[in-house]
Amino acid sequence: MAETSACARNGRVWETGDAGKVPYWVYTDQDVYQRELQRIWYGPHWLYCALECEIPNVGDFKTTTLGERPVIVVRSAEDEISVVENRCAHRGVKFCQARQGHTKDLLCPYHQWAYDLKGNLVGVPFRRGVKRQGGMPRDFDPGNHGLNRLRVEVVNGVVWATFSDETPPFRAYLGEKFWAHYTRVYDGRKLEVLGYNRQHIPANWKLMMENIKDPYHAGLLHVFFVTFGLFRADQKSAVDIDETGRHGILISRKGEQEVNDVTADLRNFQGDLKLADPRILDVVKEFPGEDTVGMITVFPSVILQQQVNSLTSRQIVPKGPAGFDFHWTHWCYADDTPEMKLRRTRQANLFGPAGFVSADDGEIIEMSQQGFSPSDMEEALVMMGGREIAPTDYMVTETAIRSMYRYWREVMGL
Ligand code: FES
Ligand SMILES: [Fe+2]
Repeated sequence: MAETSACARNGRVWETGDAGKVPYWVYTDQDVYQRELQRIWYGPHWLYCALECEIPNVGDFKTTTLGERPVIVVRSAEDEISVVENRCAHRGVKFCQARQGHTKDLLCPYHQWAYDLKGNLVGVPFRRGVKRQGGMPRDFDPGNHGLNRLRVEVVNGVVWATFSDETPPFRAYLGEKFWAHYTRVYDGRKLEVLGYNRQHIPANWKLMMENIKDPYHAGLLHVFFVTFGLFRADQKSAVDIDETGRHGILISRKGEQEVNDVTADLRNFQGDLKLADPRILDVVKEFPGEDTVGMITVFPSVILQQQVNSLTSRQIVPKGPAGFDFHWTHWCYADDTPEMKLRRTRQANLFGPAGFVSADDGEIIEMSQQGFSPSDMEEALVMMGGREIAPTDYMVTETAIRSMYRYWREVMGL
């Protein structure tokens, strides 16, 4: 039974007792978005930054954005990676514009304040003035004016950072169940980048998290999945959620391109469709167990994708309530054979902005946002599989979406 109490936001209401509904203002409201930045993105959550293999040598760096804050991810010593805010401590310049590179120090071009690779301020030109004139006040202490430095954990080849001192260690943040899901693929072997995609999607960032927590759509929207048996409602599958409800995983087993009662219900099943080059479906079993798909959402910033042999991290960078950038990093294991690297690269064509599968998701969540904006007093329904929030061993459910919003509401106080 839904409780009668309600939670209001700018005159809009979210019935507190009904986990099966999400008000549209959750995706459109500017104040809600600002609160998300503070409580979620800059709050006690680990955010995906990079793969460690992208910065192998001391002085290698990569820039990215966490929430809306630009950061530099830099190998500051053989055994240390630092993540510092890309904002000069002098006058706030986002001084590093390169996407990736190598450097001895971090230098702001405006007045050439220099920082070491850990973000300590080590150089202030004319600090003592010129000919005894000007200069910084005597009490200026460079030790108090370094770059803002984040907490960092490097976990089996992935660099994570958090703005908050209260975030638990990464393993506890995932919880033991999700630690097992994570280490199934990120097992400590060295990783190597195969390539990148980037796109902007004009939709709320949570819609991307929802999309990956939504097995219901996977066997309906995606012609490619359905037709070639990569992900279908009649395949053995499961949805798992962590104890907090914020993380989720969809697990599935690849089937064959076959006609049965389920495909009869699927308008998108095209039994007579053939691939001109079937090598994209040249799948090799490599992980323990029978599962061939594991799509993990690590709240709030990343999707860790294992779809047959394609391995990808998909980082979310929010840009206001109605848009986000999506950074795809396709990777392989450094000790893969050349054949396996090629196989993973081929399968990566299923994903990315123009992927045979993922193009559908980018389009459909943009269409969701278009529907919400003019009518944000109404609600989305997420009651497939009931109103319960619990792991399932079937696909026709929206339980992982419900669980994310239960957690989201706790954190947001809404
Ligand atoms: S703003 Fe960076 S040195 Fe002045
Ligand atoms: Fe999808």
